[in-house]
This record gives sequence, C-alpha cells and structure tokens, in this order.
Amino acid sequence: MAVTVMAAAVLALLLLSSSGPLGPRLLSASPPEPVGLTLLDCATEKGAVCLDGTPAGYHLQRGASSGSRSWLIHLEGGAWCNTVERCSNRTNSMLGSSNYMKPLQFAGSGILDSNQQLNPDFYNWNKVYVRYCDGGSFSGDAEGRAQDGSTLHFRGLHIYEAVIDALMEKGLANATQALLTGCSAGGLATLLHCDGFSARFTQEVSVKCLADAGFFLDAKDISGERSFRSVFDGVVQLQNVREVLSKDCLANKEPTKCLYPAELIKSIHTPVFILNSGYDPSQIRNILVPGSSDPDKSWLSCKENIQNCNSTQIQVLDGFRNAMLNDLKVVEEKEDWGMFIDSCFTHCQALYGISWNSPISPRLKNKTIAEAVGDWYFGRRQVVKYIDCEYPCNPTCSSLLPSP
Ligand SMILES: *[C@@H]1O[C@H](CO)[C@@H](O)[C@H](O)[C@H]1NC(C)=O
Ligand SMILES: *[C@@H]1O[C@H](CO)[C@@H](O)[C@H](O)[C@H]1NC(C)=O
Ligand SMILES: *[C@@H]1O[C@H](CO)[C@@H](O)[C@H](O)[C@H]1NC(C)=O
Ligand SMILES: *[C@@H]1O[C@H](CO)[C@@H](O)[C@H](O)[C@H]1NC(C)=O
Repeated sequence: MAVTVMAAAVLALLLLSSSGPLGPRLLSASPPEPVGLTLLDCATEKGAVCLDGTPAGYHLQRGASSGSRSWLIHLEGGAWCNTVERCSNRTNSMLGSSNYMKPLQFAGSGILDSNQQLNPDFYNWNKVYVRYCDGGSFSGDAEGRAQDGSTLHFRGLHIYEAVIDALMEKGLANATQALLTGCSAGGLATLLHCDGFSARFTQEVSVKCLADAGFFLDAKDISGERSFRSVFDGVVQLQNVREVLSKDCLANKEPTKCLYPAELIKSIHTPVFILNSGYDPSQIRNILVPGSSDPDKSWLSCKENIQNCNSTQIQVLDGFRNAMLNDLKVVEEKEDWGMFIDSCFTHCQALYGISWNSPISPRLKNKTIAEAVGDWYFGRRQVVKYIDCEYPCNPTCSSLLPSP
C-alpha cells in the first residue's frame, strides 16, 4: 500500500515537471533540500569553462556511513551542438552557461535518490551531478567565434578533467568503489571517459561505468540517408574531439565513426553496463526518422508515442532494434559487463525514479533496472545481460514512462 502511494506521488511529480527538448530534467519532490551548485575554482586558468566562458560546475551530495567512501558521478546529457550557430544559442541557457544553472533536487531521480527504499544500492553514496555546458559530450578541446564576434569555448575535455581533479581533493581519491554514469549525450560521455576514469584509481578500487541511453547507432534514416552522421561530424570537427577516441579506431576509420558506441565498446577495458531501450524515442526521432526523412510528417504521431505506430512502422522500429542488438553482440563476450535492453518507449531510465525502481518500472526476468544494475555492480549474479523481446511483448512497459 505504502509503495503504491509513493508511486502515485512520484507520478504526479513526473507529470508536473516539464522536460525540455534538449534532455532530461530532474524531478522535484518536497522534503529534501536541493543540492547546491559548485563552480570550479580557477576555471579560466584550467580552460574548464562553458561555451560562453563561464566556469563549469557540479552538484555534490555527500555520502554517509557505509557509503562514505563510495562515489557515483553522473555526467549530464542534453544532445550536442554541431554548428557555431547552435553552440551560440546554447550560451543563453544552462546548456552553455553556468549563469543559468540553479540548485538541483536529487529526490525522485532514480540512481541519485538518497531514499533507501527507492534506491537501495546507491542511496548513501557520495553523488555528483556534473553539469553539461560544452555541447560536445565532455570531450572537445577547441575555440570558435560566434557571429557577434564573441569567443565560443569548446572545452568539454577540460571540464571533465577539472571536475574529477576537484572531486579527488574532496575525497574521491580515497574511494573504495566508484561508478561513472550519465544519460544520453552523458551516456556517450560515460563510454568516452570510462577507461580514463578507471585509470585514476589503483587496482584495489572497484570502478565501473553505466551508460544510460547513450548507445547511439550509426544507422540510416527511413529515407536511406545517414543524416545523423552530420551531427557527430559537426561535433568532432568543430569541437576537435580526438583525445578520447581509440587510437586503434582512429588508425583505421574516420574520427566520426570512432565516436559511435559500437566502436567505443570494442576497446573499453573497464566493466560497463549498457542500459538502453531498443525503441529509444530520442534515437527514433533523431536518427531513424529525423524531420528531413519524413517531409510529409506521416511519422509524427508514431514518433510522439509508439502506441500510435502502425504495423509497417513497427517493422521499421524492429529493424532499428535489431541493428542495436547486432552492435551489442560484442558485449556478450565481455565478462564483467552487463546490459538491460528493454523494449519500452523511454529514454534515460536510471535518472527517473519511475523507471529506475517503482511498481511500474520496466522489468526483465522480473528485475527492475535498479536490481539489475545493483546485481551487476556488486557481483550478486554472475551474468546480468538481459535483452527484452520485441515490442509490444513486455507487459511491464508502462505508457507513463518518460519519453523526453
Ligand atoms: C537559435 O535560437 C533562435 C531563437 O531561439 C532560433 O530561432 C534559431 O532557430 C536557433 N538556431 C539554431 C541553429 O538552433
Ligand atoms: C584520504 O584519507 C586519508 C587517511 O584517512 C586522509 O588523511 C586524507 O585527507 C584523505 N584524502 C582526501 C582527499 O579525503
Ligand atoms: C503506416 O503509416 C505509414 C506512414 O503514414 C504509411 O505509409 C503506411 O502505408 C501505413 N501502413 C499501414 C499498414 O497502415
Ligand atoms: C517478481 O518480483 C517481485 C519482487 O520484486 C516478487 O514479488 C514477485 O513474486 C516476482 N514474480 C515472479 C513471477 O517471480
């Protein structure tokens, strides 16, 4: 009974909180305090600045008791900016300037929640939410010029490094266990930085990475074009993304190709958990059926809600999911890795209490995402690699799950 009331409360909050077009927004709940924003010291000297040159920042909630030496670091998502114009636009928002960032509420936010019932494995860890204000998945290193003559700073790589340095001084250096995570563009960033993050610690420290909704495919859209490539191409060129890409991959392939998770996972040595829907609304809208591929807008209602898709459209979506499963075959061979590839129409599932661990969370083998990730992280089961059946076979897929 109590659980149901809780779920209803979470639901109501979910419906009240608006999620912007650029990425997930944290939910707000009443009692706990919002977590303040910490701006980086000497950000300018370190080059750790947002697109507009303001210092980058993060939100740190201290862990307690058994979690005081455990650290979870979440890299925020919010798509990418691949042109000077789009990056300039971001300088007027929290995705490009810390002038617009406010304290954040962690309650209701799944893996970040400090409520033990809602988040049994990570509730008392030190938790960090790193703000995304570079537009390049925390990986660029370049400078540009906006049309009005002002400088655009593409310094995601410096932001990431400076934040980790700052956290090291605040206790991360003494961690016994750590988890790097992030969703969407932050899920991609998680893959890009996973081995580098792990390399910061000694062998005795348990370090793993959870990439949520970051498994972007290099797939053709419904008109047969690889239109999404231009986004990654733009990010790689404009923001000079190289440092974080695999040397092996760069020796054989174009840099843009090396930014895709299918390539990245081949060279990662740290244990990774891939969490993604096979019918991720963000990928359906931006990769499979971008506006340019559907000029008469016949997919509009299907992209809005998978329940509106007709049988022909579902077949196309199934094909996209199959391509994802094909790219994920690499994971089957990797010991210590995990995955949860459900068939629910939802994006960023670790960051919302409702999808992470609630009575209406997606389940695979009767496990919620929170249970599956915990089982994998703590080695409670030998193999945690769950793949759902095709849509709409999973009865636990609720239409109330967020699809920002
Ligand atoms: C930049 O922002 C303006 C005003 O919000 C908008 O009209 C324009 O389409 C945006 N440009 C890009 C490239 O996003
Ligand atoms: C790490 O632990 C040692 C020993 O307890 C302590 O002296 C040091 O200040 C800690 N370092 C950080 C960064 O918390
Ligand atoms: C499904 O919708 C698409 C786009 O509107 C249309 O081209 C197709 O004929 C429809 N298929 C069925 C089986 O209704
Ligand atoms: C599924 O898990 C729940 C607890 O999370 C349990 O109550 C239920 O009995 C399980 N169902 C099956 C079919 O195993």
